Amino acid sequence: MQTKAKVIKNIEVAPKYYRIILFCPQIVKEALPGQFLEIKVTEKIEPFLRRPFSINRISGKHIEILYEIKGKGTRLLSRIRAGNYLDIIGPLGNGFSYQPKLSQGKIILVAGGMGVAPLFFLAGKIKEIKNQKSKIKNLVLIGAKTKKQVLCEQEFKKMGYEVRIATDDGSGGFKGTVTELLKKMLSDFGLRPSIIYACGPRPMLKALSVLSARRNINTQVSLEEHMACGIGACLGCVVKLKTQKSKGKIDFEYRRVCKDGPVFDAREVVW
Ligand SMILES: Cc1cc2nc3c(=O)[nH]c(=O)nc-3n(C[C@H](O)[C@H](O)[C@H](O)COP(=O)(O)OP(=O)(O)OC[C@H]3O[C@@H](n4cnc5c(N)ncnc54)[C@H](O)[C@@H]3O)c2cc1C
Ligand code: FES
Repeated sequence: MQTKAKVIKNIEVAPKYYRIILFCPQIVKEALPGQFLEIKVTEKIEPFLRRPFSINRISGKHIEILYEIKGKGTRLLSRIRAGNYLDIIGPLGNGFSYQPKLSQGKIILVAGGMGVAPLFFLAGKIKEIKNQKSKIKNLVLIGAKTKKQVLCEQEFKKMGYEVRIATDDGSGGFKGTVTELLKKMLSDFGLRPSIIYACGPRPMLKALSVLSARRNINTQVSLEEHMACGIGACLGCVVKLKTQKSKGKIDFEYRRVCKDGPVFDAREVVW
């Protein structure tokens, strides 16, 4: 659905990181965790292409997005003031699947940098559907370059999640990558999660998928690709996937991250 969303707030939450709140009741009704919006960041011609952003949170009739200034498009977005309107398309893509059966065990969310954005929305949904009597505490691992760049830590804790941090420079939590932290936690505490949900840079997701495949842990990853149309028409965002055919024969196929994803089973992705 294409609509004009009113900007309610657009504020810097950490150096170069912003939170924008949009009033868009129609999209709110349909949005699911892992889905994203395509935002036209300016009314001018340049940049011509919309930019994709994950839905970070839904509150009432509002959608919140967390974004990092990367280039021209996100810089322009950061300059939009409250009261203005943005042309958006959404909700787009296939999000995370969170069957109640899998939710009965321990769930681990692994976020690298801005990967926290869709996982936060998912964390809220999991909390809604998870058996209230369950004593199992779900875990969130957040990786960032420095402590200042760790986002949503307190919000996850408020929702009842156990949160562990990994930073590249050791300024907060474990010193190293979030995947190294996950490996350590799986080994040291003998964790046996029923499912891992992850979002972050591709090398992180690749390392994580190797780790979880070795332990045979069900893992869903949300991929990022450069997107031109965002609606499945241009084939600019395809990724190669392995598909298991009959008699164990492996086949390959190309799927669109924007339309068939962005969430895929980690075992299927050809990294
Ligand atoms: C499904 C999806 C969800 C996303 N969710 C978020 C989010 O919640 N918050 C957020 O901050 N960002 C998110 N991104 C990434 C975001 O779309 C890009 O950072 C943004 O489009 C950059 O636009 P720009 O004009 O500022 O930068 P550009 O000038 O276009 O590029 C600046 C740098 O960012 C890289 N880049 C640009 N677009 C992408 C992309 N799609 N994937 C990977 N690298 C890219 C470029 O290679 C370049 O190095 C998401 C991307 C996808 C595909
Ligand atoms: S961005 Fe055009 S098909 Fe995915």
